[in-house]
Amino acid sequence: MAVRTIATVGHPVLREAARTIGEDELASPALQQLVDDLIDTMRAAAGAGLAANQVGEPVRVAVIEVADNPRYPYKPRIPLTVVVNPVLTPLDDEMVAINEGCLSVPDLRGEVQRHVNVRVQYLDRFGVAHDEVKRGLTAGTFQHECDHLDGVLFLDRVQDPTTFTTWEQFERHHRAAFVARITAFVDRVGS
Ligand code: NI
Repeated sequence: MAVRTIATVGHPVLREAARTIGEDELASPALQQLVDDLIDTMRAAAGAGLAANQVGEPVRVAVIEVADNPRYPYKPRIPLTVVVNPVLTPLDDEMVAINEGCLSVPDLRGEVQRHVNVRVQYLDRFGVAHDEVKRGLTAGTFQHECDHLDGVLFLDRVQDPTTFTTWEQFERHHRAAFVARITAFVDRVGS
């Protein structure tokens, strides 16, 4: 087990477009170790996802998992998913406003518009190809991690800067309204 240091906003690696992984590289011990480290680091930080460039490795690999996460009790569960070379395609124009945070942007949240329905094509850690549809908050999580691999942070997508909050102020002033709205949305969309 290896928990790595997470780069925070301002570190140039977060602004680099990560490079595509070849099949041989994916099978290599170094890359498999990186995947294990990403999983360990995400879990240690209680995050919903982590991209490789967040631990200083600009390659197109990310991990996603939502179990019973105290940071996000309203989020539907996502089983542990390793995505390599993901390609994300919106399926329509439906959008939802999601209050997001990021392990690389400590103690800040903001409201971001995300596609509700997306197609995600990726390889898993064993090189097996997947072609799936993700919806709702789960689709939002995939968009957040794929953005990282393009050097994009959720900060860039916040259209209304007055929605920025610390965790403390989110809990105090915004959580109840957000959770009520997003719970109704999750009930409707189903994920
Ligand atoms: Ni992030």
